[in-house]
Amino acid sequence: MPHSVRAVIARAKGEPVSIETIEVPDPGPGEVLVGIQACGVCHTDLHYREGAINDEFPFLLGHEAAGIVEEVGEGVTNVAPGDFVILNWRAVCGQCRSCQRGRPWNCFETHNANQKMTLNGQPLSPALGIGAFAEKTLVAAGQATRVDPAARPEAAGLIGCGVMAGLGAAMNTGQVGRGDSVAVFGCGGVGNAAIEGSRLAGAHTIIAVDIDPRKLDLAREFGATHTVDSSQEDPVEAIRAMTGGNGVDVAIEAIGLPSTYEQAFYSRDLAGTVVLVGVPNPEARVELPMIEVFGRGGTLKSSWYGDCLPSRDFPMLVDLYLQGRLDLDRFVSETINLDEVEAAFEKMERGEVLRSVVVL
Ligand SMILES: NC(=O)c1ccc[n+]([C@@H]2O[C@H](COP(=O)([O-])OP(=O)(O)OC[C@H]3O[C@@H](n4cnc5c(N)ncnc54)[C@H](O)[C@@H]3O)[C@@H](O)[C@H]2O)c1
Ligand SMILES: [Zn+2]
Ligand SMILES: [Zn+2]
Repeated sequence: MPHSVRAVIARAKGEPVSIETIEVPDPGPGEVLVGIQACGVCHTDLHYREGAINDEFPFLLGHEAAGIVEEVGEGVTNVAPGDFVILNWRAVCGQCRSCQRGRPWNCFETHNANQKMTLNGQPLSPALGIGAFAEKTLVAAGQATRVDPAARPEAAGLIGCGVMAGLGAAMNTGQVGRGDSVAVFGCGGVGNAAIEGSRLAGAHTIIAVDIDPRKLDLAREFGATHTVDSSQEDPVEAIRAMTGGNGVDVAIEAIGLPSTYEQAFYSRDLAGTVVLVGVPNPEARVELPMIEVFGRGGTLKSSWYGDCLPSRDFPMLVDLYLQGRLDLDRFVSETINLDEVEAAFEKMERGEVLRSVVVL
């Protein structure tokens, strides 16, 4: 029997989202039905409703979620009904070129549910293959990662997207280590998570860069040792001055703009690393003198989902949270109902929140 549940739908480009009753099928082979407890509002949900990702409307939004497994389909062994899980949007296949090379975090053939959830018979496109602004959602088994149920769902769910992207940009992609210096450009949910990840990894200098003083205050709370308001001063010069004239070992761009990518490029030390975790729009271009790309040496990297492996990283991060070593609660700016997602988009655009979290 399919399940009729309330969900947040983006029906057409740029139109406000609406609450609709959708049909969620029972799980088929390799699928899992999850009762959603909490789901964060991420910038990517807004990108979907603006038509900036693709035209496959209607979208079922929401993808930063935690909940309880209600039913599992044939052949599912990694989770069972009653398990507390965080959903992920990169369930690795184990068989593609990248998995075969021993790099499953870069998997090129990630899994989603095979069956479609529907609205009045019309198939829905779930955001990032999840669709969790809904009382229940259907995912591939590998998209559900079991974690310690002692964690609050509204904090744990955030690990499913932005927080993981930021933590992983520092810890996995940037390989930040003890005694390193780091600069983070953009201190939204992703950038502040990169700051926390740098602190956890042992960085001794963590410089937060933003144009919004409210975000810089938050960055200090997450562990930034220095802040730069780049609307007031040149961040490259400021970062050099804060690092003995040298620049940082790792520069993390968490906005997705050419101008801030260039700032990151020029603010690192010789042989340093630049990590791009911000998602650029398709028209964005960077132009760099090639001699600088060569002469500065080091590494230019991009971070997909923080190069995470959900089955390895999610349980570990939840444990750090429960031990009081990873502050997830500070990312939860407010908890809201399903029908307040549109208002949460507006708050996000005004820079008033790190995360609004829908609680079901
Ligand atoms: N790589 C991934 O897998 C992944 C996953 C999730 C999100 N993201 C991307 O990460 C980026 C950040 O996401 P978020 O949720 O933190 O967004 P956000 O809007 O909450 O934060 C962006 C921050 O950048 C600041 N900013 C904007 N323009 C700036 C400028 N010119 N100079 C300095 N600071 C500036 C804003 O004040 C804000 O604090 C987005 O591009 C998002 O799509 C990437
Ligand atoms: Zn793979
Ligand atoms: Zn997201």
